[in-house]
Amino acid sequence: MVNFEYLVPTKILFGKGTENEAGRLIKEFGGHKALIHWGGDYVRTTGLLDRVHKGLKDAGITYVDLDGVVPNPRLSLVKKGVELCKQEDVDFILAIGGGSAIDSSKAIAYGLANDFDLEDLFLGKVSTDKIAKIGAISTLAGTGSETSNSAVIDIDTMGPKTLKRSYNHECARPLFAIMNPELTYSLPAYQTAAPGADIMMHTMERYFTTERDVELTDEIAEGLLRTVKTMVPEALAHPTSYTARANLLLAGAKSHDGLTGLGRVGDFACHAIEHEIGAMFDVAHGAGLTAIWSSWAKYVIHVDPERFAQFAVNVWGVQNDFHDPMATGLRGIEAWDQWCHSIGMPTNLHELGVNPTDEQIQEMAEGAVEARGGDHAGNFMKLHVEDIVNILK
Ligand code: NZQ
Ligand code: ZN
Repeated sequence: MVNFEYLVPTKILFGKGTENEAGRLIKEFGGHKALIHWGGDYVRTTGLLDRVHKGLKDAGITYVDLDGVVPNPRLSLVKKGVELCKQEDVDFILAIGGGSAIDSSKAIAYGLANDFDLEDLFLGKVSTDKIAKIGAISTLAGTGSETSNSAVIDIDTMGPKTLKRSYNHECARPLFAIMNPELTYSLPAYQTAAPGADIMMHTMERYFTTERDVELTDEIAEGLLRTVKTMVPEALAHPTSYTARANLLLAGAKSHDGLTGLGRVGDFACHAIEHEIGAMFDVAHGAGLTAIWSSWAKYVIHVDPERFAQFAVNVWGVQNDFHDPMATGLRGIEAWDQWCHSIGMPTNLHELGVNPTDEQIQEMAEGAVEARGGDHAGNFMKLHVEDIVNILK
C-alpha cells in the first residue's frame, strides 16, 4: 500500500428537501452575496430555482443569477461569471447541476480569487491554492464534482480549436454538497446512463493499478461497482425510484472523492483520452468513456490478467477459470460491453457516432499525452502516443 493523504472536508446534506438549506449553509460558511450558477431550463421549470431563492432570502443572503452552462462547460462563460461576481461584490458561488455547472462554478471561483489568466491555470502554466467559496446542489449522479478536487473546462477562448483541460487541487472541494435524490428524477435516460457509467469508470480507473494487496480498497471498490451495475438499470426502468437515485447519488460522490483509490496509484488514461474526444466532438463524458474502455482493456490486459480476472469474478459474476486468468478477464470485458449496451451506451467510437480521421486520431492521442504533462498517459500501462492511436483505432 502506498502512502496517502485523504481529507474530504465537504459537508454533505443528503436527502429530501435539503435544497431548502442552501441559504443556511452559505451563511454558516461566511457568505453574504451569492452567484447562483446553472445550465438549462430544468432548474427553473422544476421549481428548484424558486425554492433555492427562497432559502437564500430567508437566511438573509442576497444573490445574482447566471445560467447558460452547457455540457463540457466553456471558459468564455466562466469569464463572464468572474466579471459579474466582481461587479456585484459576490463572495460565494452556489452551483446547481451536474459536473458541468459545478466545474464552471469552480473555475469562476478560481477567477475571483486570483489575478492570472484562467487559460494559464488550465494549461498548467500557473498553479494556485486560492479559490473563492463554493457550494453545490447536485441534480445529477455522475462526476462527483460536488466533492472532488477537480475542475474540467473547455478552453474556447484561444482561437478555433477547443482544448479540454483540468486543474486539480484540494482547495476546489466544495464547502458543502446538497444531495437530494428526488432532484435527479427529471434526468432523461441518456443523462442517467452516461453519468452512471462515469461513476463506474471513476472507480475502475483506480481499481486497475499495479499496486498489490490493497484489499480493503478493493472490497470497497467492488461493492460500489456492483451497486452501480444494478442501480443504473433500476433507475432507467423506474426513474422515480428513490432507492436507485439515492444509491447512485451517493456512489457518484464516493467514487470520485478518492476513497476507492486509497493506498494505490490510479490510472486515468481513459479519462485523458475521453477529454480529447469530448473537446473535439462535444459528446457526453460518460458515453465517451464507455466507447473506449474495452479497447483500452484488451490492449493492457496482458500487464496483469489476474487483476482483470478478479474484476470479472467479483464485479460481473463471471465463473473463474483458475487455470486461465486471461480467459476469465476477457469474459469480464465482454460482460462490461453487454452491460453498456443494456443501458444504451456505446462500446466503440462508431456507436458513439464519432468517426475521426487518421489526423484527428493522431491529434487526440497527442493531446491526451500533452494534457498529462509528460510523454505518456496512464499508469497501469504507460501509454505513449502510438499506443493511444492503436486504442482509438
Ligand atoms: O444543460 P442543462 O440544462 O444544465 O442540463 C443538463 C445537461 O444537459 C442535464 N441535467 C442535469 N441535471 C438534470 C438535467 N436534466 C434534467 N434533470 C436534471 N436533474 O444533464 C446534462 C448533462 O449535465 P452535465 O453537468 O454536463 O453532466 P455531467 O454531470 O456528466 O458532467 C460532465 C462534465 O463534468 C466533467 C466532464 O468532463 C464534463 O465536462 N467531469 C468533471 C469531473 C470533476 N469535476 O471531478 C470528473 C469527471 O471525470 C469529468 O471529467
Ligand atoms: Zn469522469
